[in-house]
Amino acid sequence: MNIIPAQTKEEMARFAADIFADQISSKPDSVLGLATGETPRELYKELIAKHEAGELDFSNISTFNLDEYVGLNADHDQSYNYYMHDALFDHVNLRDEHCHVPDGTATDLETECRDYDERIKQYGGIDLQLLGIGVNGHIAFNEPDEEFPKGTHAVDLTPSTIEVNSQYFATPEEMPTSALTMGIGSIFNADRIVLIASGPTKTEILHDAFFGPITPKVPASILQIHPDVTLIADEEALAKIRAKGLI
Ligand code: GLP
Repeated sequence: MNIIPAQTKEEMARFAADIFADQISSKPDSVLGLATGETPRELYKELIAKHEAGELDFSNISTFNLDEYVGLNADHDQSYNYYMHDALFDHVNLRDEHCHVPDGTATDLETECRDYDERIKQYGGIDLQLLGIGVNGHIAFNEPDEEFPKGTHAVDLTPSTIEVNSQYFATPEEMPTSALTMGIGSIFNADRIVLIASGPTKTEILHDAFFGPITPKVPASILQIHPDVTLIADEEALAKIRAKGLI
């Protein structure tokens, strides 16, 4: 595992954007795994700026998002589909048919999940996967559990995730309590993984995920055994790892 410390969350975003830009330039038909949440917003802004400066061409890039709430239409402003259009898709020359987000409104969620994994396979797998991390150690919506789930699946969100994410909804009751998420297996199959984290709320969990035991109780801990993981985090998020002399 490679750890890149950043002074600020803006610097974190620039470092991550450089990795994505290199990937896109060196393989213009790359398959990217994308994440939502507050942390990647700045990174997407950096990619848009590079595109506007004529440095990045997304016309042959394909994307697969990690997750989506069950029951939210694509035009709901808290759906991850909406988020991705707002944060990236509508501002670069990605082709609509190349952008994939699980459909949380599908009538048959099981089939939707199976098809999603199948589509990732058809595209040749993910070259570079972006991840954030939840305060409980979730990656995508793989919540702490008794085992690591493999493929894309429906999941009941934990009270901790509901508490953190409901702040973005007009009323907390509006927040769905279940989601579709790529599984740990689907994420693990990516050739390269970049996890970004910032701020003091992530300091405990970053330490536990990257230096604690590998356990499905901390889903991100599985990343310790992936062959190509880069953690990019600001000093606030790295505080515990640094205090323990681990970097
Ligand atoms: C969300 C998403 C995750 C994201 C995480 C952290 O619930 N499902 O993919 O990485 O929680 O979000 P944030 O970056 O806002 O802290």
